[in-house]
Amino acid sequence: MGPTRDAPVLAVEGLGKSFGSVRAVDDLTFSVRPGAVTGFLGPNGAGKTTTLRMLLGLTRPTAGRALVDGLPYAEHERPARVVGAALEASSFHPGRTGLGHLEVFAAQVGASNRRCRELIDFVGLGPAAERRVGGYSMGMRQRLGLATALLADPPAVVLDEPANGLDPEGIRWMRGLLRAFAAEGRTVLISSHVLSEVQHTVDDVVIIAHGRLVHASSLADLGALATPETYVESPAAGALAGLCDDRGWSRRADGAGLVVAGVPAAEIGAAAYAAGIELHQLVSRGVGLEDVFLRLTGGVR
Ligand SMILES: Nc1ncnc2c1ncn2[C@@H]1O[C@H](COP(=O)(O)OP(=O)(O)O)[C@@H](O)[C@H]1O
Ligand SMILES: [Mg+2]
Repeated sequence: MGPTRDAPVLAVEGLGKSFGSVRAVDDLTFSVRPGAVTGFLGPNGAGKTTTLRMLLGLTRPTAGRALVDGLPYAEHERPARVVGAALEASSFHPGRTGLGHLEVFAAQVGASNRRCRELIDFVGLGPAAERRVGGYSMGMRQRLGLATALLADPPAVVLDEPANGLDPEGIRWMRGLLRAFAAEGRTVLISSHVLSEVQHTVDDVVIIAHGRLVHASSLADLGALATPETYVESPAAGALAGLCDDRGWSRRADGAGLVVAGVPAAEIGAAAYAAGIELHQLVSRGVGLEDVFLRLTGGVR
């Protein structure tokens, strides 16, 4: 796969889609930069697939625009050469072999049969190339979807829930591949309903719930929203609890000690020292990103 110049920015502007009374996507605006992996995150039903379908010209927006390098997908002369995509992995013809499937798509995007053979090996489906897709596992379908997306060696890839059905080894493999694409300067957009599945893969996150944007930033900035907790243990447990209450710190019992939310260990240590309270443990605990994700996506509407 060659290095890539001028990979496209993917963007949606005031994008909306209603199915009857259901607002699947509602006034959504965000953009996805080249040279990074962006995670498009939200719970099931949040509107991820609908948004990606609009970006790929498969669903017509009822409001706003979805743009690939400033143009709607369908207005590109050879769109499949600009963005490779894998949407829901169930859309394969079950009677075709994996290789046969790739060859059908290759004809549409002007890729050779030799390229199909290379790709089927590249995604680890070499031994299953001649088997019918109907008998493929979910993980194998994901790999086939990825091979399809890569047929034209595109500068941008859009993958809908690529980690679904992959085992941990498969997820690690996919991660390496996507990180390598981004390092080549390509634009990579992947959706997931589970942040923890992609948190070691993505540089940026776009989080939606009920069709609306709830957060867009680097992964590092998302991490900063996690409130730290501190575990603290003292032989003078009553005095320690009293200190927390005096300071207005929220505390809960945990084993032999207390967990204090949102107060750094240094601040608790200093207060305990000043109050003459002996401490036997003082431990910072990060809060998982998944908690932040649930907090962000749970409270809308
Ligand atoms: N073709 C459709 N007809 C009617 N409702 C749809 C259609 N596609 C999606 N929806 C609805 O739009 C909402 C968003 O769905 P979807 O984009 O698939 O979410 P996600 O991919 O985040 O799980 C859901 O309420 C879903 O039921
Ligand atoms: Mg979906």
